[in-house]
Amino acid sequence: MAGRITLTMIKPDAVADGHTGKIVDMIIGAGYKIQAMKLTRLSKEKAEEFYAIHKERSFFGELVAFMTEGPIVAAILEKDNAVESFRNLIGATDPAKAAPGTIRNLFAKSIEANAVHGSDSADNAAIEGNFFFSQMERP
Ligand code: CMP
Repeated sequence: MAGRITLTMIKPDAVADGHTGKIVDMIIGAGYKIQAMKLTRLSKEKAEEFYAIHKERSFFGELVAFMTEGPIVAAILEKDNAVESFRNLIGATDPAKAAPGTIRNLFAKSIEANAVHGSDSADNAAIEGNFFFSQMERP
């Protein structure tokens, strides 16, 4: 199962700008099944935990501040080869480098306010899915 799921967040910039519906539509249109989804908000502690792998990076403080500034939508998505195919759908981390038609190309404002997150490995997808969702929330 692990290789068939990825975890996405629609980040505070895209939620605040009203892009949630368009992004979810693109995800469904690309063939993903939504296993679980919620509108929520990260506390400083939870954002630091989610992004702990980046805690030594120069942008960590800004990243945590940005990710806590408003609501996000978290979702577990299911499809064959989910992690890699979803990263192709969202495009490069830096929207200036994201391919035309990708979610970040269409909706991201900057490398920080980059509209969506996608897991970078099957192992992290499993960890990140469990971070946001209990067993009851993922039928
Ligand atoms: P994400 O895929 O959520 O994973 C880590 C996040 O850190 C990344 O998207 C960006 O939003 C952010 N990030 C990566 N590099 C930088 C950077 N150089 N400056 C600011 N934020 C960054």
